[in-house]
Amino acid sequence: MTDFHYRDQVLHVESASLTDIAARFGTPCYVYSRAAMERRWRAFDRAFENRAHLVCYAVKANSTLGVLQVLARLGSGFDIVSVGELERVLAAGGDPARTVFSGVGKREDEMRRALEVRIRCFNVESEAELRRLDGIAGSMGRIAEVSLRVNPDVDPGTHPYISTGLRDNKFGIAHEDAVRLYRFGNGLANIKMTGIACHVGSQIVALAPFQDTAARMAALAQELERAGLPVQHVDLGGGLGVRHEEQEQPPEPAALVNVLCAAFAGMDVELRIEPGRAIIANAGVLLTRVEYLKQNGPKRFAVVDAAMNDLLRPALYHSWHDIIPVRAGDGLAEFRYDIVGPVCESADFLGHDRALAIEAGDLVAVCSAGAYGAVMASNYNSRPRAPEILVDGPQVHEIRRRETIADLLRPEKPVP
Ligand code: LLP
Repeated sequence: MTDFHYRDQVLHVESASLTDIAARFGTPCYVYSRAAMERRWRAFDRAFENRAHLVCYAVKANSTLGVLQVLARLGSGFDIVSVGELERVLAAGGDPARTVFSGVGKREDEMRRALEVRIRCFNVESEAELRRLDGIAGSMGRIAEVSLRVNPDVDPGTHPYISTGLRDNKFGIAHEDAVRLYRFGNGLANIKMTGIACHVGSQIVALAPFQDTAARMAALAQELERAGLPVQHVDLGGGLGVRHEEQEQPPEPAALVNVLCAAFAGMDVELRIEPGRAIIANAGVLLTRVEYLKQNGPKRFAVVDAAMNDLLRPALYHSWHDIIPVRAGDGLAEFRYDIVGPVCESADFLGHDRALAIEAGDLVAVCSAGAYGAVMASNYNSRPRAPEILVDGPQVHEIRRRETIADLLRPEKPVP
């Protein structure tokens, strides 16, 4: 995390001190580095060099308008999974013609809106979905471009909740049905089958699953071509992991892109990818303040003001996030703490058994929290959601304000 560094023993994001940010916006809060997200997006984009390609940022990873704006201004494409995400992309100035629509359960109104604003392509996951899309496109006098999402049956070697490319998963259609369905789609009056797509899982930290996936997709593209069914683009999904633990060494974006390009060498297809986490995870931290230190028997706890409602990943996936002090080396004794929040659940922890030299009132940063952090936050325990701050060099922008209790109560209605 090169954009997060200590200066005068205080953790900074680019040129902004996290102590100052906490004083100005309160805690807990999410803090993002614009430079970090731009650098990662460009690393993907540049690695394709002269090959026709589209980097579609997976909006689900972090859909805050300010984040989407930054990426839209780089010329990013977007991968969306709902009409809500589509409206966010549009509101952020994203280009619908660079937007692909993934997901197993697209509703009619979602398809209609996506056709209306002329998105680039639907990644379709079933025969039933093809029929529905054909009907809606026909009623609107439109032709829908479709990528068929196939399930390459590759084990990404990641947490079962975030692996999607195995055979018995709900995602995609079976490899052996692909040719038949592609032909079927081409026979529909208002559908144009233009490509194939896949996504095998998330937080993948090795190249091998991507290599296998790309090889299978390249073989399928050739099979379709041989059957007289042209393929203009192949979407290889997202899934590249980030370093969540010291010893993990996930591949760099360029290494992934090189593997993909190699698998399609000599084939005239546009390559698409849908990275989310790899762009935004390490561009963000969750900043939180220690409320209390306490000891139960031999166990020490640091009770902080962020909780599982702010960052669900440790509770849901047992994921690791480095937790580091904002003020480094001020001579306190180091102990091992469980870092826990105030929510009434034993699963409410941000990290177990972390060595930290801290006292009550100190700030700590929960790292790699830019992806699947703010977007998965809830109001559990009637906790207003945290603000999001975007740092851009010395400038600090609040891109989402803290929710208030009044915000929480607003949609509710009294019993008559
Ligand atoms: N494309 C499709 C079709 C996807 O389903 C996903 C993620 C992505 C792209 C982006 O994957 P990424 O590059 O971010 O790995 N909440 C979980 C992650 C769920 C990912 C679901 N699909 C977590 O916090 O780890």
